[in-house]
Amino acid sequence: MSATHTPVMLNEMLNALRPDNGDTIVDATFGVGGYSRAILEEADCSLWAIDRDPAAIKRAEAISSDRFTVARGTFGQMDALLAKYGVFQVDGIVMDLGVSSPQLEEKSRGFSFRHDGPLDMRMALQGPTAADFVNAADEDCLVKIIRTLGEERLARRIGKAIVAARSENPIKRTGQLANIIRRVVPKAKDGLDPATRTFMALRLHINNELGELDRALIAAEQLLAPGGRLVIVAFHSLEDRRVKRFFDERTGYSNRPSRHAPQQQSLCQPSFSQARRRPLKPTPAEIASNPRARSARLRAAWRTASAPWHTKPSDAHKGAAA
Ligand SMILES: C[S@@+](CC[C@H](N)C(=O)[O-])C[C@H]1O[C@@H](n2cnc3c(N)ncnc32)[C@H](O)[C@@H]1O
Repeated sequence: MSATHTPVMLNEMLNALRPDNGDTIVDATFGVGGYSRAILEEADCSLWAIDRDPAAIKRAEAISSDRFTVARGTFGQMDALLAKYGVFQVDGIVMDLGVSSPQLEEKSRGFSFRHDGPLDMRMALQGPTAADFVNAADEDCLVKIIRTLGEERLARRIGKAIVAARSENPIKRTGQLANIIRRVVPKAKDGLDPATRTFMALRLHINNELGELDRALIAAEQLLAPGGRLVIVAFHSLEDRRVKRFFDERTGYSNRPSRHAPQQQSLCQPSFSQARRRPLKPTPAEIASNPRARSARLRAAWRTASAPWHTKPSDAHKGAAA
Protein backbone atom coordinates (compact mmCIF):
# COMPACT_ATOMS: atom_id res chain seq x y z
CA MET A 1 0.00 0.00 0.00
CA SER A 2 1.35 3.45 -0.77
CA ALA A 3 0.30 6.66 0.92
CA THR A 4 0.76 10.26 -0.06
CA HIS A 5 2.44 12.61 2.35
CA THR A 6 1.40 16.26 2.30
CA PRO A 7 4.39 18.37 3.34
CA VAL A 8 3.61 20.36 6.48
CA MET A 9 4.13 24.18 6.67
CA LEU A 10 5.86 24.11 3.29
CA ASN A 11 5.69 27.87 2.61
CA GLU A 12 6.76 28.74 6.15
CA MET A 13 9.67 26.31 5.80
CA LEU A 14 10.80 27.93 2.51
CA ASN A 15 10.50 31.43 4.00
CA ALA A 16 12.70 30.42 6.92
CA LEU A 17 15.23 28.34 4.95
CA ARG A 18 15.52 30.91 2.13
CA PRO A 19 17.39 28.73 -0.37
CA ASP A 20 19.33 30.94 -2.77
CA ASN A 21 21.09 30.31 -6.08
CA GLY A 22 24.46 28.67 -5.48
CA ASP A 23 23.59 27.59 -1.92
CA THR A 24 24.32 24.15 -0.49
CA ILE A 25 21.25 22.94 1.39
CA VAL A 26 20.55 19.79 3.42
CA ASP A 27 17.11 18.19 3.71
CA ALA A 28 17.93 15.90 6.66
CA THR A 29 14.55 14.12 6.53
CA PHE A 30 13.76 13.34 2.88
CA GLY A 31 10.61 11.26 3.59
CA VAL A 32 8.54 11.52 0.44
CA GLY A 33 10.54 14.44 -0.88
CA GLY A 34 7.92 17.20 -0.59
CA TYR A 35 10.44 19.61 0.95
CA SER A 36 13.29 18.51 -1.32
CA ARG A 37 11.31 19.08 -4.52
CA ALA A 38 10.15 22.51 -3.34
CA ILE A 39 13.73 23.53 -2.42
CA LEU A 40 15.06 22.41 -5.81
CA GLU A 41 12.34 24.46 -7.52
CA GLU A 42 12.87 27.51 -5.33
CA ALA A 43 16.53 28.13 -6.20
CA ASP A 44 19.39 26.91 -8.34
CA CYS A 45 21.02 25.34 -5.27
CA SER A 46 22.72 22.00 -4.52
CA LEU A 47 20.60 19.81 -2.30
CA TRP A 48 21.74 16.91 -0.12
CA ALA A 49 18.94 14.69 1.15
CA ILE A 50 19.32 12.29 4.07
CA ASP A 51 16.99 9.63 5.42
CA ARG A 52 17.53 6.50 7.49
CA ASP A 53 14.63 4.64 5.87
CA PRO A 54 15.56 2.49 2.83
CA ALA A 55 12.08 3.08 1.33
CA ALA A 56 12.63 6.86 1.46
CA ILE A 57 16.05 6.44 -0.18
CA LYS A 58 14.45 4.46 -2.99
CA ARG A 59 11.96 7.28 -3.55
CA ALA A 60 14.78 9.85 -3.51
CA GLU A 61 16.69 7.92 -6.15
CA ALA A 62 13.83 8.66 -8.55
CA ILE A 63 14.74 12.36 -8.52
CA SER A 64 17.06 12.95 -11.43
CA SER A 65 18.81 16.24 -11.02
CA ASP A 66 22.52 16.93 -11.05
CA ARG A 67 21.89 19.35 -8.17
CA PHE A 68 20.50 16.56 -5.96
CA THR A 69 22.32 13.85 -3.98
CA VAL A 70 20.79 11.40 -1.55
CA ALA A 71 22.61 9.72 1.35
CA ARG A 72 21.26 6.97 3.56
CA GLY A 73 22.00 7.45 7.25
CA THR A 74 20.90 9.20 10.40
CA PHE A 75 20.74 12.95 10.67
CA GLY A 76 22.59 12.77 14.00
CA GLN A 77 25.61 11.90 11.88
CA MET A 78 24.95 14.33 9.06
CA ASP A 79 28.36 15.98 9.44
CA ALA A 80 30.17 12.64 9.00
CA LEU A 81 27.80 11.59 6.18
CA LEU A 82 28.37 14.79 4.22
CA ALA A 83 32.12 14.73 4.87
CA LYS A 84 32.27 11.51 2.85
CA TYR A 85 31.17 13.59 -0.14
CA GLY A 86 33.61 16.40 0.64
CA VAL A 87 30.89 18.70 2.02
CA PHE A 88 32.05 20.48 5.18
CA GLN A 89 29.97 23.65 5.18
CA VAL A 90 26.37 24.33 4.15
CA ASP A 91 24.01 27.30 3.88
CA GLY A 92 20.81 25.74 5.15
CA ILE A 93 19.53 22.65 6.94
CA VAL A 94 15.92 21.59 7.35
CA MET A 95 14.61 18.80 9.55
CA ASP A 96 10.98 17.69 9.51
CA LEU A 97 10.90 15.34 12.48
CA GLY A 98 8.90 12.18 13.02
CA VAL A 99 7.46 9.69 10.59
CA SER A 100 6.14 10.05 7.05
CA SER A 101 2.67 9.03 5.96
CA PRO A 102 3.92 5.92 4.10
CA GLN A 103 5.72 4.78 7.25
CA LEU A 104 2.53 5.22 9.27
CA GLU A 105 0.17 3.74 6.70
CA GLU A 106 2.22 0.75 5.58
CA LYS A 107 1.04 -2.08 7.84
CA SER A 108 4.28 -4.02 7.57
CA ARG A 109 6.23 -1.14 9.18
CA GLY A 110 4.30 -1.64 12.40
CA PHE A 111 4.09 2.02 13.50
CA SER A 112 0.33 2.35 13.71
CA PHE A 113 -2.29 1.02 16.09
CA ARG A 114 -4.87 1.71 13.38
CA HIS A 115 -3.63 -1.10 11.13
CA ASP A 116 -2.72 -4.53 12.42
CA GLY A 117 0.81 -5.51 11.46
CA PRO A 118 4.06 -6.82 12.91
CA LEU A 119 5.12 -4.72 15.92
CA ASP A 120 8.23 -3.32 14.25
CA MET A 121 8.55 0.53 14.28
CA ARG A 122 12.17 0.66 13.05
CA MET A 123 12.69 3.53 10.63
CA ALA A 124 16.00 2.11 9.41
CA LEU A 125 14.86 -1.56 9.47
CA GLN A 126 17.89 -2.30 11.66
CA GLY A 127 18.29 -3.23 15.31
CA PRO A 128 15.70 -4.44 17.84
CA THR A 129 12.03 -4.10 16.96
CA ALA A 130 9.30 -2.72 19.21
CA ALA A 131 8.19 -6.35 19.75
CA ASP A 132 11.70 -7.27 20.93
CA PHE A 133 11.57 -4.44 23.45
CA VAL A 134 8.00 -4.98 24.64
CA ASN A 135 8.61 -8.69 25.22
CA ALA A 136 11.96 -8.33 26.96
CA ALA A 137 11.98 -5.12 29.03
CA ASP A 138 11.12 -5.38 32.73
CA GLU A 139 8.04 -3.63 34.02
CA ASP A 140 9.89 -0.63 35.46
CA CYS A 141 11.71 -0.03 32.21
CA LEU A 142 8.45 -0.22 30.22
CA VAL A 143 6.81 2.19 32.65
CA LYS A 144 9.71 4.65 32.47
CA ILE A 145 9.68 4.75 28.68
CA ILE A 146 5.91 5.01 28.41
CA ARG A 147 5.74 7.70 31.10
CA THR A 148 8.67 9.87 29.97
CA LEU A 149 8.46 9.56 26.20
CA GLY A 150 4.68 9.14 25.94
CA GLU A 151 3.85 11.54 28.78
CA GLU A 152 1.32 8.85 29.75
CA ARG A 153 -0.17 9.17 33.25
CA LEU A 154 -1.35 5.55 33.30
CA ALA A 155 2.04 4.10 32.40
CA ARG A 156 2.20 1.78 35.42
CA ARG A 157 -1.17 0.26 34.54
CA ILE A 158 -0.03 -0.28 30.95
CA GLY A 159 3.32 -1.75 32.02
CA LYS A 160 1.59 -4.27 34.27
CA ALA A 161 -0.90 -5.19 31.54
CA ILE A 162 1.92 -5.77 29.03
CA VAL A 163 3.85 -7.99 31.44
CA ALA A 164 0.71 -10.01 32.27
CA ALA A 165 -0.28 -10.42 28.62
CA ARG A 166 3.14 -11.50 27.40
CA SER A 167 3.36 -14.19 30.09
CA GLU A 168 0.50 -15.88 28.19
CA ASN A 169 1.62 -15.14 24.62
CA PRO A 170 4.43 -13.05 23.13
CA ILE A 171 3.19 -9.68 21.85
CA LYS A 172 3.95 -9.68 18.13
CA ARG A 173 1.30 -7.52 16.46
CA THR A 174 0.36 -3.84 16.68
CA GLY A 175 -3.32 -4.79 17.06
CA GLN A 176 -2.50 -7.12 19.94
CA LEU A 177 -0.62 -4.39 21.83
CA ALA A 178 -3.25 -1.76 21.10
CA ASN A 179 -5.97 -4.02 22.53
CA ILE A 180 -3.93 -4.74 25.69
CA ILE A 181 -3.68 -0.98 26.24
CA ARG A 182 -7.33 -0.30 25.37
CA ARG A 183 -8.43 -2.81 28.02
CA VAL A 184 -6.75 -0.82 30.83
CA VAL A 185 -6.87 2.80 29.63
CA PRO A 186 -10.26 4.51 29.26
CA LYS A 187 -11.02 6.33 26.04
CA ALA A 188 -10.26 10.06 26.34
CA LYS A 189 -13.05 12.64 26.02
CA ASP A 190 -11.35 14.10 22.93
CA GLY A 191 -11.56 10.69 21.24
CA LEU A 192 -7.79 10.06 21.32
CA ASP A 193 -7.14 6.34 21.04
CA PRO A 194 -5.85 5.04 24.41
CA ALA A 195 -2.90 3.43 22.58
CA THR A 196 -1.68 6.74 21.08
CA ARG A 197 0.79 7.78 23.78
CA THR A 198 2.28 4.33 24.29
CA PHE A 199 2.84 3.84 20.57
CA MET A 200 4.48 7.26 20.38
CA ALA A 201 6.76 6.41 23.32
CA LEU A 202 7.81 3.08 21.79
CA ARG A 203 8.54 4.70 18.43
CA LEU A 204 10.69 7.41 20.02
CA HIS A 205 12.54 4.81 22.06
CA ILE A 206 13.13 2.24 19.30
CA ASN A 207 14.53 4.91 16.98
CA ASN A 208 16.32 6.88 19.73
CA GLU A 209 14.66 9.96 18.27
CA LEU A 210 15.54 12.39 21.06
CA GLY A 211 19.19 11.30 21.10
CA GLU A 212 19.28 11.69 17.32
CA LEU A 213 17.83 15.19 17.59
CA ASP A 214 20.44 16.25 20.17
CA ARG A 215 23.25 14.98 17.96
CA ALA A 216 21.73 16.65 14.89
CA LEU A 217 21.56 20.05 16.57
CA ILE A 218 25.27 19.89 17.38
CA ALA A 219 26.13 18.59 13.91
CA ALA A 220 24.12 21.44 12.35
CA GLU A 221 25.97 23.98 14.47
CA GLN A 222 29.26 22.58 13.15
CA LEU A 223 28.14 22.46 9.51
CA LEU A 224 26.37 25.76 8.99
CA ALA A 225 28.30 28.66 7.48
CA PRO A 226 27.87 32.12 9.05
CA GLY A 227 24.40 33.28 8.01
CA GLY A 228 23.30 29.67 7.43
CA ARG A 229 19.72 28.80 8.35
CA LEU A 230 18.54 25.94 10.55
CA VAL A 231 14.83 25.14 10.28
CA ILE A 232 13.15 22.45 12.38
CA VAL A 233 9.56 21.27 12.29
CA ALA A 234 8.63 19.20 15.37
CA PHE A 235 5.39 17.41 16.14
CA HIS A 236 6.10 16.13 19.64
CA SER A 237 6.32 18.45 22.65
CA LEU A 238 9.49 16.74 23.93
CA GLU A 239 11.22 17.33 20.60
CA ASP A 240 10.02 20.91 20.28
CA ARG A 241 11.16 21.64 23.85
CA ARG A 242 14.66 20.35 23.05
CA VAL A 243 14.88 22.55 19.97
CA LYS A 244 13.63 25.56 21.94
CA ARG A 245 16.18 25.03 24.72
CA PHE A 246 19.00 24.53 22.24
CA PHE A 247 18.16 27.82 20.51
CA ASP A 248 17.67 29.61 23.85
CA GLU A 249 21.09 28.45 24.93
CA ARG A 250 22.91 29.10 21.67
CA THR A 251 21.34 32.54 21.09
CA GLY A 252 22.28 33.59 24.63
CA TYR A 253 18.60 33.97 25.60
CA SER A 254 19.03 31.58 28.56
CA ASN A 255 21.71 33.87 30.00
CA ARG A 256 19.70 37.07 29.83
CA PRO A 257 19.57 38.79 33.19
CA SER A 258 16.41 38.25 35.17
CA ARG A 259 15.14 40.35 38.05
CA HIS A 260 14.85 37.19 40.12
CA ALA A 261 18.02 35.25 39.34
CA PRO A 262 21.68 36.16 39.25
CA GLN A 263 22.95 36.56 35.71
CA GLN A 264 24.83 33.52 34.48
CA GLN A 265 27.92 34.06 32.43
CA SER A 266 28.37 31.96 29.33
CA LEU A 267 31.89 31.35 28.14
CA CYS A 268 30.66 30.96 24.57
CA GLN A 269 29.48 33.65 22.20
CA PRO A 270 26.02 33.06 20.68
CA SER A 271 26.37 30.67 17.76
CA PHE A 272 22.82 31.35 16.52
CA SER A 273 20.51 34.34 16.29
CA GLN A 274 16.76 34.34 15.95
CA ALA A 275 14.32 36.78 14.42
CA ARG A 276 11.51 35.31 16.53
CA ARG A 277 11.76 33.08 19.56
CA ARG A 278 8.21 31.79 19.39
CA PRO A 279 7.49 28.90 17.04
CA LEU A 280 5.38 29.26 13.93
CA LYS A 281 2.23 27.15 13.88
CA PRO A 282 0.21 25.92 10.90
CA THR A 283 -2.70 28.09 9.83
CA PRO A 284 -6.27 26.92 10.57
CA ALA A 285 -6.69 26.39 6.81
CA GLU A 286 -3.72 24.03 6.68
CA ILE A 287 -4.96 22.10 9.72
CA ALA A 288 -8.39 21.80 8.11
CA SER A 289 -6.93 20.36 4.91
CA ASN A 290 -4.21 18.27 6.62
CA PRO A 291 -5.08 17.34 10.22
CA ARG A 292 -1.61 15.77 10.60
CA ALA A 293 -0.23 19.34 10.64
CA ARG A 294 -2.14 20.13 13.85
CA SER A 295 0.74 19.75 16.30
CA ALA A 296 3.53 21.07 14.05
CA ARG A 297 5.83 23.76 15.47
CA LEU A 298 8.43 25.39 13.24
CA ARG A 299 11.49 27.00 14.81
CA ALA A 300 14.32 28.63 12.89
CA ALA A 301 17.61 30.33 13.65
CA TRP A 302 20.53 31.80 11.75
CA ARG A 303 24.11 30.76 12.37
CA THR A 304 26.35 33.58 13.58
CA ALA A 305 30.07 33.82 12.80
CA SER A 306 31.00 32.63 16.34
CA ALA A 307 32.66 29.27 16.87
CA PRO A 308 30.46 26.24 17.57
CA TRP A 309 30.18 25.47 21.27
CA HIS A 310 31.54 21.92 20.87
CA THR A 311 29.56 20.74 23.86
CA LYS A 312 26.70 18.36 24.18
CA PRO A 313 23.36 20.05 24.90
CA SER A 314 23.13 21.51 28.38
CA ASP A 315 21.59 19.63 31.28
CA ALA A 316 18.35 21.37 30.40
CA HIS A 317 18.06 18.82 27.59
CA LYS A 318 18.05 15.80 29.83
CA GLY A 319 14.32 15.90 30.43
CA ALA A 320 13.57 12.36 29.37
CA ALA A 321 15.28 9.15 28.45
CA ALA A 322 16.64 9.34 24.91
C1 LIG B 1 7.99 13.70 8.52
S1 LIG B 1 8.96 12.77 7.40
C2 LIG B 1 9.63 13.99 6.36
C3 LIG B 1 8.71 14.39 5.27
C4 LIG B 1 9.36 15.29 4.24
N1 LIG B 1 9.62 16.61 4.75
C5 LIG B 1 8.50 15.40 3.00
O1 LIG B 1 8.11 16.52 2.63
O2 LIG B 1 8.22 14.39 2.36
C6 LIG B 1 10.33 12.33 8.38
C7 LIG B 1 11.37 11.50 7.70
O3 LIG B 1 12.55 11.58 8.47
C8 LIG B 1 13.16 10.34 8.55
N2 LIG B 1 13.93 10.32 9.80
C9 LIG B 1 13.47 10.37 11.04
N3 LIG B 1 14.47 10.35 11.93
C10 LIG B 1 15.62 10.31 11.19
C11 LIG B 1 16.99 10.30 11.53
N4 LIG B 1 17.40 10.32 12.80
N5 LIG B 1 17.89 10.26 10.54
C12 LIG B 1 17.49 10.25 9.23
N6 LIG B 1 16.20 10.25 8.85
C13 LIG B 1 15.27 10.29 9.83
C14 LIG B 1 12.03 9.34 8.55
O4 LIG B 1 12.49 8.08 8.07
C15 LIG B 1 11.04 10.00 7.60
O5 LIG B 1 11.21 9.54 6.29
